[in-house]
Amino acid sequence: MYEINTTEAKNHRTLVKVWTVTFLILFPLLITLGLLMRLNQGEVLKLQSMTFYSLMTLHGLGMAGVIFSTALGALGYLIGTRYAKISVGFGYFIYALVVLGTLGLTAATLFGKYAAGWYLLYPISVQPGIGQNWAITLALLSLIVLGVAWVLGSTHIVYALGKRYGGFTKLMGWHYLGKEEPKEELPALALITTVSLVPGIISFLAGAVFLVMNLLQHFEGTLSYDPLIQKNLVFFFGHTLVNIAMYMAVAWVYEIMPSFTHRDWKVNKAVVYAWNGTFFFIIFAYFHHLYMDFAQPTSLHYVGQIASYLSAIPSTVVTMFGVGVQVYHGKLKWSIFPMAVIIGMTGWAVGGFAAIVDSTINLNKVLHNTLWVPAHFHTYMLLGVIPFLFAFFYYLAYGSEEKKPSWGFWLFVVGAAGFLTMFYLGGMESVPRRYSEYMFTNVPGLREVGSKYAKIAARFIEIVVLGLLIMYISLFKNLLFRKDLPKS
Ligand code: HEM
Repeated sequence: MYEINTTEAKNHRTLVKVWTVTFLILFPLLITLGLLMRLNQGEVLKLQSMTFYSLMTLHGLGMAGVIFSTALGALGYLIGTRYAKISVGFGYFIYALVVLGTLGLTAATLFGKYAAGWYLLYPISVQPGIGQNWAITLALLSLIVLGVAWVLGSTHIVYALGKRYGGFTKLMGWHYLGKEEPKEELPALALITTVSLVPGIISFLAGAVFLVMNLLQHFEGTLSYDPLIQKNLVFFFGHTLVNIAMYMAVAWVYEIMPSFTHRDWKVNKAVVYAWNGTFFFIIFAYFHHLYMDFAQPTSLHYVGQIASYLSAIPSTVVTMFGVGVQVYHGKLKWSIFPMAVIIGMTGWAVGGFAAIVDSTINLNKVLHNTLWVPAHFHTYMLLGVIPFLFAFFYYLAYGSEEKKPSWGFWLFVVGAAGFLTMFYLGGMESVPRRYSEYMFTNVPGLREVGSKYAKIAARFIEIVVLGLLIMYISLFKNLLFRKDLPKS
């Protein structure tokens, strides 16, 4: 049994609140950048192309980074207060690095107009003119700082868990696969954290190699590299980063949901098989970003399609089944935590299904580079990971007390669903992604269709922001000013 004293618990709680408040401030600001992009695409306002792409760079990298970092903070808190020794001081160090990286990126994009997109496609990523000279340096350095923070933070958590549970094989639950009952129970939180963070660390290292190579070329213009290797490195990094953000969030769903349902949700053989499968296949799933790269060996495209299916399906099925068992015929009160979990599961399933459609080679030939792609991953993030994050924030603020979902929550869900629908409709009509303005498309009628959906989407984004602001009133009140500790 792992126990910590009240001072340590309080310090952990303060740290996770710092992460939470930072997220709650940055999230609507990054959404506002999305709103500006949609308004530009809807021809309601007029941004310079470079401004649009620098906003898109900051929005994409900012969202992916802030979500991952906050999820890491949440896992550090839950693990550190329940299962293994996590250093709070080190947590603040990681926080400081993340703030430093974020400030650098913000300056590079907003003031230095660095506009390579969040996917940093090489050689665009270092092309002279893709931002001011200093901004290219600052953007790459800032991303390196963020990468270092994530590697250190993730390694610290995995190391602490490994020390507590007896190494990697135990953390992966392999002792559940024999005939004998395991001597010590492994919490699902520890298993899923390991399955997420270990591939994460490997992919961050690949990202670091990519960034350092880019930086060297930026300083020494005669250098150049194989674009296909660079694309493999950067997509392994980027795809894995957003992919594992979902699994990290699922980890706390397994951990916290039983406080509301009063039913156990334990690791068993099915859970171990499913998440071990995810661990292995997650590493190869990014290949589906390279279907259009004819120089990539065809066999890898097939590996990509199969790995995309296999990395997502088992863990999704086993988790959905688990949530079903938790709530079926239970005496559950539909307070905000379980409700947000159900919405998050729905977003995960819908976004995941749309992703599987897109990762199927024959369909990808049609949907590739249309708005279908942002549609699927925005669903996965905005109606999947984000509700899970808010479930966690409400748990911090209210514990397992009954707190009904507010109007704000429902406005957020309706606004997000409407905004996403416009992306899907655009994708189905072949409206291209990453176009600052649709007047640059040469297909008759496409400009009208694209800008019409963008304008409607902007209305839904306003509803999302309104919903968030309403949610914030009670969240901030309880997170910042509540004196007693909520019942967990
Ligand atoms: C209401 C919230 C959001 C709004 C309004 C929004 C809006 C947008 C828009 C308009 C684009 C450009 C799409 C295009 O034309 O290709 C975009 C791109 C992007 N968004 Fe969001 N977004 C939101 C939430 C999120 C979240 C939660 C994430 C989390 C990772 C995210 C990550 C990205 C990324 C990575 C891109 C770049 C996509 C690419 O490279 O094609 N967004 N977003």
